[in-house]
Amino acid sequence: MKVAFGCDHAGLVLRRPIFEALAELPVEVLDFGVADAAPVDYCTFAEPVARAVSKGEADLGILACGTGVGMAIAANKVPGAYAAHASDPYTARMAREHNAANILTLGGRVVGPGLAQEIVQAFVTAQPSSEERHVRRRSQFVDLERRALQGGR
Ligand code: RB5
Repeated sequence: MKVAFGCDHAGLVLRRPIFEALAELPVEVLDFGVADAAPVDYCTFAEPVARAVSKGEADLGILACGTGVGMAIAANKVPGAYAAHASDPYTARMAREHNAANILTLGGRVVGPGLAQEIVQAFVTAQPSSEERHVRRRSQFVDLERRALQGGR
């Protein structure tokens, strides 16, 4: 499994803990930066990670900014990217099992390093549920996206 990673300066505090958590799993990390604390714009990192996931170059993505919110909004503008913001392992697991989210976003000013590692572990190890109701509901938001792309709002 390949996991694409990106963060801005405010998410940088989670970079090392996240890499440590991923090192415990059978995953290859595709690193889109950032690696230093100079202020940057989160869209710059959300977009390539979301595109890598959307194109199938990565199976999952993980993005960190100050709150995780800007990264989620930006990533979700890329068709085929389904980003979920989580500050707890339960939400992260459900985001995979029920929603088949393919990107996790975290807030470096919200969660500490240990909790972030548990959230990452929960997200990466969970699988989308094949129960009919979840598959049906997911197909509804995929259809919503398709209609939006066709110009309907
Ligand atoms: C940067 O100050 C901050 O706005 C950004 O990291 C993120 O939290 C935005 O959602």
